Amino acid sequence: MNILIKLVILPAIVSIGGIIYLQSRTVQIPVYENTWWGPGIENHNVDKSIKPFKIDWNDKDIEDLKNRLNRTRDLVPHLEGAGWTYGMSGNFLKETILPYWMNKYDFKSRLTHINKFPLFSTNIQGLNIRFVHVKPKNTNGKRVLPLIILHGWPGSITEFQKVIPLLTTPRDDQDFVFEVIAPCLPGFGFSDGAVRPGLGAPQIAVVLKNLMLRLGFEKYYIHGGDWGAIITAMMSSLFPAHVLGMHSTMCIATSPKVLLKVMFYSFFPSLLLAEEDYHWFYPMSERFGQILYFTGYLHLQATRPDSLGVGMADSPAALASYVLEKFSEATKRGSIFKDDGGLFDKFTPEELIDNLMMYWIPNKMTTAMRIYAESFNKKNNAWAQQWPVEIPSSCAQFPHEISWYPREFLQERFLNLVLVTRMPRGGHFATLEEPELAANDIHKFVGIVEGQRMAFAQKSAMKTDL
Ligand SMILES: *[C@@H]1O[C@H](CO)[C@@H](O)[C@H](O)[C@H]1NC(C)=O
Repeated sequence: MNILIKLVILPAIVSIGGIIYLQSRTVQIPVYENTWWGPGIENHNVDKSIKPFKIDWNDKDIEDLKNRLNRTRDLVPHLEGAGWTYGMSGNFLKETILPYWMNKYDFKSRLTHINKFPLFSTNIQGLNIRFVHVKPKNTNGKRVLPLIILHGWPGSITEFQKVIPLLTTPRDDQDFVFEVIAPCLPGFGFSDGAVRPGLGAPQIAVVLKNLMLRLGFEKYYIHGGDWGAIITAMMSSLFPAHVLGMHSTMCIATSPKVLLKVMFYSFFPSLLLAEEDYHWFYPMSERFGQILYFTGYLHLQATRPDSLGVGMADSPAALASYVLEKFSEATKRGSIFKDDGGLFDKFTPEELIDNLMMYWIPNKMTTAMRIYAESFNKKNNAWAQQWPVEIPSSCAQFPHEISWYPREFLQERFLNLVLVTRMPRGGHFATLEEPELAANDIHKFVGIVEGQRMAFAQKSAMKTDL
C-alpha cells in the first residue's frame, strides 16, 4: 500500500492538480517592437527597395576552400564498430566527404543551380534579408496564394530546391497555386545577422512579417521545419491577421500542462497512445536519455555559440562533420550505427554540400548558431513558449522526426487543428528528403482551409443579399 501511495497515487494527484492549475492560467502574448538590428542607430532613410540578388562565390573563395580541404590533418579514426555514435566518423569524412567536396563537387554548375530560383535583397530593420521569390510560370487561371517557407538549423534555403517547383506548379485538383517566398533566416546563408544581442525566434518572426509586408503580402500561408517550424507557430500566434494558415513538419506542444500529462499517462499509457507510439514518451527514463544524447549541441549553442563557431569558420572539415552528423542522425534513427551514417540513402553529395556552402562562403555558422542563445534565454524562452495558435494549423508528422505529439496534445496549443498527417516515411529534413510528401500535404491543407474560407465568404455574401 505504502509503495502504491508513493509511486502512483501521489504523483497522479500532483499531476492532476498541476493540470487543473495550469488550465486556469491565461497566456499573455507579448507585443514586439520593430527593433533595429543593424549597425548604428535606426536609419529611417534606409533604402527600402527590393533588388535582385545573386549568390556568388569567386575563384579565390573556392581556391581557399580547396586548399583548406587539402590541408586537413589526419583525422582520428572512429572507434571500431562504433559507427557515428561518438560523432561523425573521421574515416568517412576524410575518405569520402572531403575528397568529394574538393575534387568532384562542381562549384560552377552548383552555383548556377543554387541561383536557379530568383533571389532578392531588401533591408528590414537594419538587416539585409536575402530571399528566394518564385512566382508560378503558368497559373492556368488559378488563384495565386503567397506562401512563405522557413528553413532551420543546420539547414538553408537549398533544402527547398526540390519542393519549390512542386508548390509553384498548378494541380488539376486545386483551384490555386503558390507563389513561394523562402528567406535565408537572419544570420543564416546570405541574410545579415544582428550586430547586438536579442534577435531570437520571436524577433525573427517580426522581421519576417515585415518582409512579407514589404513585398505587399497582407495575408499568406506559412510552412516551416526545425527553427522554421518554431517561427511559423510564433508568427501564427503573434500575427493571426496576416497568417491564413500554418503548416509545420515539427509541431511542438511542450507546455508544462502537456509535460504533466505525459507524466500522468505514464501510469496508463494505453489511455493516451496506441502501443506502437509508446516509444515516443515511455519508458520516460529512456526517452529522457535519448533527448539528452541528441541535444548536446543545443545546450552548447544556447550558451557558447561563438567559441564553438571558430572551428567551423576556419575549417571546412569541422563544418562538414558538425552539420552532416545531423543530416544522418535526424534523418533516420539508427543511421549513426552505420559506418557511412546512411548519409547518401536519402541525399546526394551535391545536395549536402550545397547546404554546407551556404554556411562556408558567407561565414555564417556562428551567427546562425546564435539563434539558440537568443531564443533559449529567460527573455524569449523559446521552448516553453507555447502561445496558443488560433489560425488553421496542420502538423505533418514524419516518422523519424525527433519530436512527436499525439493529436490530443497538439490540440492544447493549436486550437484550430485542421490536419494531422502521419507520413509513411521521412525524417527531420522533410522537404529535401521527401519533397512530394511535403508538397502534397501543404496542397491538401491549404485546399481544406481555402474551401472553408470560400464557403464562409459565400455565406457572408448571401447574408448581405438578404
Ligand atoms: C593538394 O595538395 C597536394 C600536395 O601539396 C598537391 O599536389 C595537390 O595538387 C593539392 N590538390 C588540390 C586539389 O589542391
